[in-house]
Amino acid sequence: MGKIGFSLILTLALVTLSTSSERKCDLSGLWRNELDSLMEIDKVNDAGEFSGKYLTAVTATSNCIRSSPLKGAQHDTTQRSQPTFGFTVNWEKFSNSMSVFVGQCFVDDQGEETLQTMWLLRQEVGSPGADWKATRVGTNVFTRIKGQNMGKSMRSDCAW
Ligand code: BTN
Repeated sequence: MGKIGFSLILTLALVTLSTSSERKCDLSGLWRNELDSLMEIDKVNDAGEFSGKYLTAVTATSNCIRSSPLKGAQHDTTQRSQPTFGFTVNWEKFSNSMSVFVGQCFVDDQGEETLQTMWLLRQEVGSPGADWKATRVGTNVFTRIKGQNMGKSMRSDCAW
């Protein structure tokens, strides 16, 4: 085999290796949960911090749903293969509430990632006496959406 043939095989092997060992559980990308809510997470920085957008499919209000900013942090994916993370979503574009999510990314035998999360949703109430009804709690499971136009899917249909 000539030098060129050897170089080609070496390049092919390196490309295959880098694709198959693509790092999992980096939260960057587009995700959907079982309610059909979408979240788009921008690049996670070296400190594990990230921001993005969340388009919920449901609301406790009667207002038109708007894409809302999220901010969070995740543990180092070079140190851990199934890292924990947390993020807040500020719903103030259409609601008086805030959410916090905590969760962990899991990878199954097929390499599919799921985000198992638990959330608190705090709405504004008029007085401390109403505190008892101010917080909802629940769980969401997110799966990654591959190969879709992110900007388009995060658009809301509000009139203004
Ligand atoms: C509100 O209704 O006050 C704001 C929207 C809240 C949406 C909640 S957050 C937890 C749950 N998971 C979702 O994807 N949407 C709901």
